[in-house]
Amino acid sequence: MEETQHFVAKTFAGIEPVLADELARLGARNCRIMSRAVAFEGDMDMMYRANYFCRCALRILWRQKTFKFQNNRQYYEQIFDFPAEKFLRRDGTMAVHTTCADSIFKTPLYASVLAKDAICDRFRDLYDERPDVDRENPDVQFHLHIYKDEAQLFVDSSGESLHKRGYKVRNHPAPINEVVAAAMIAMSKWHGECDFIDPMCGGATLPIEAAMTALNIPAGFYRREYGFLHWKNFDPESWNRIRKEARIAEDVAINFYASDINPRFLDIARENIRRARLEDFITVEKYDAFRFKPQRVPALVMMNPPYGERLELEDTEAFYGNIGRALKYNFSGCRAFVISSDLQALKRVGLKPSTKATLYNGQLECRFLGYELFEGDRKHHIINKKQS
Ligand SMILES: C[S@@+](CC[C@H](N)C(=O)[O-])C[C@H]1O[C@@H](n2cnc3c(N)ncnc32)[C@H](O)[C@@H]1O
Repeated sequence: MEETQHFVAKTFAGIEPVLADELARLGARNCRIMSRAVAFEGDMDMMYRANYFCRCALRILWRQKTFKFQNNRQYYEQIFDFPAEKFLRRDGTMAVHTTCADSIFKTPLYASVLAKDAICDRFRDLYDERPDVDRENPDVQFHLHIYKDEAQLFVDSSGESLHKRGYKVRNHPAPINEVVAAAMIAMSKWHGECDFIDPMCGGATLPIEAAMTALNIPAGFYRREYGFLHWKNFDPESWNRIRKEARIAEDVAINFYASDINPRFLDIARENIRRARLEDFITVEKYDAFRFKPQRVPALVMMNPPYGERLELEDTEAFYGNIGRALKYNFSGCRAFVISSDLQALKRVGLKPSTKATLYNGQLECRFLGYELFEGDRKHHIINKKQS
């Protein structure tokens, strides 16, 4: 049996429990929720699996060692002792990323430089040559998390953030992050049982993530690059075997609708959908969201309306009032989810949310609100629901 390895999957605040569930379903052991991360255990296959299948992780770090230190010398020696040559080729490139709090290092930069020196000195001793540093695109990215007098040394198995799925040909000016979109879908508890509608779709992130979820397309299906592909100890056989675990559905009995009022954004949506090879599943049409009516009920409506900060809106509060009215009168019988960073304007939706969460679209704090939409008033809906 392969040795248990220790990993940390990074994500955005608010998504940790969803990610922990996802990892546990993929076979991760001992999942522990941390701040903007989930620690877990597993073998090397699990590392490849998390990178390929996790929709809600930004990167997967593999812990190599934990050590205590009192001064620069001890810190340097601990890193010098680490066999970086397992990962890094003699002619390879590397980078060190450090976070530190309450430590002897006043800035993470100095801790990174010292770690880089330790690794280079080790290579000089072993091979008489040293690896180059490439901060943009290294073959091996080391991460050091330093808290007080303890450091954890990780290698970053993902490389570029996993939200970069590989299907975005062009970005909308105010996109929702793919990891946040996937978490919203997971939090809605929608599993593809009814149509999915995004009436303000921009670059179509939400409909693409929804279609990938319903069709069981792995999060990494379109992605070509991962950090571990450049490691000296990369195991292509395991990686190919893990990718073959995907069970992609050929078809689903539901439809996906992506519409927007701006034709320029619909061009972006179409290009992204084509790149994801989902044009047979997602219908793209120009519509004013306030006139959109679902073809079938129930359906799931999910939207990320403009919020003034990145897209201009003349009267934000009136706009959100219109969202509330459209949901109530055009989508009754459906469930709806709205994410926005405009907390004041969100109040103007005027419907009582049945679920509420705080999520972060990058740095932007957002509310994610869910509504059950029914005809008439809420009291009668609850009474009818209890009677049926
Ligand atoms: C924040 S963006 C959505 C970004 C999208 N989630 C993505 O990831 O690319 C909001 C979108 O709402 C659209 N929009 C604004 N008013 C609209 C309306 N009345 N009907 C439909 N779409 C509208 C804008 O054109 C914009 O593309």
